[in-house]
Amino acid sequence: MNPPLRWNDDARRVDLLDQTQLPVEETWLEIETPDRMAEAIRMLRVRGAPAIGIAAAYGLVLAVSRDPQSFDQAFRVLADSRPTAVNLRWALERMREVWRRRPDAASLLAEAINIHEEDLAQNLKIGAYGAELLGQGAKVVTHCNTGALATGGHGTALGVIRSAWSAGHLAQVYNTETRPWLQGARLTAWELHEEGIPAKLVADGAVAHLMTREKIDWVIVGADRIAANGDTANKIGTYALAVAAKLHGVKFMVAAPSGTFDLSCPSGQAIPIEERTPRELTEFRGEPVAPLGYDAFNPVFDVTPADLIDAIVCERGVISPVSEEAIRKLLG
Ligand code: MRU
Repeated sequence: MNPPLRWNDDARRVDLLDQTQLPVEETWLEIETPDRMAEAIRMLRVRGAPAIGIAAAYGLVLAVSRDPQSFDQAFRVLADSRPTAVNLRWALERMREVWRRRPDAASLLAEAINIHEEDLAQNLKIGAYGAELLGQGAKVVTHCNTGALATGGHGTALGVIRSAWSAGHLAQVYNTETRPWLQGARLTAWELHEEGIPAKLVADGAVAHLMTREKIDWVIVGADRIAANGDTANKIGTYALAVAAKLHGVKFMVAAPSGTFDLSCPSGQAIPIEERTPRELTEFRGEPVAPLGYDAFNPVFDVTPADLIDAIVCERGVISPVSEEAIRKLLG
């Protein structure tokens, strides 16, 4: 399992794997300030909802280790780095709670390490619950990267796939490219390949066709924010997968830790959706792929309505069927 970042206690910094360079190069960045951490989050050097929460928590440790007065400023910069994944705000609020009670760098570091280690433990539970839902010989589709690179380790949706593979339940994975950043082609394929899990890459637009030719059992995805009614924001294209799954009788699973739920959002309508520069669509690695000056609409998340989701799996158990009542009951 490839951790996306690690605390370097000797150097009092974070060593962060630059995911924009994968799978071609494994470049480790030395992150020493909250501003550099915010830049790494904004530029997707570290990405995936749980991983950016963990990264932001360490960002606050970096801030107060250098200047104890800089907590609030660092909090704001980190909180503003990406809008959709609620894990970012959730982790920062946990850190603020500790800072209120014990305003010292050692206590903050201990909390950041807790957030990091808890995430791995939660993923292992999510993996076990999710794997139980898959029958023998399951064929699954997954989207984006939700693996060790996107979390504290193991992964959420990809964690379910890992656990199902270890339990001998899995026959075949199809993972989407995930345009425009290619998290699926570059990162998920890298993780699946390293573990020897039988997998094939598919173009995002090929999944509906795949469902007409192959008996797919489950689509399994992660989440960036789950509203109180179960509507789920995740990587752009997830909604289209859910629509195709419904039409073809394929079950749809969302796997996410409890920190991804936002009960203050009544429905998906209230979830802020990040839009990034049109250049991510009109260019590829700096080369134009559309006429110069052409405009583009580039939302990088979408919302899948709860009624298209068969099960939400979190570390506390499985929510199925999905309803606000069932979510509130499980989260307490
Ligand atoms: O833009 P990204 O790469 O941060 O988007 C990531 C996703 O959408 C993941 O599916 C989600 O964060 C869950 S990661 C366990």
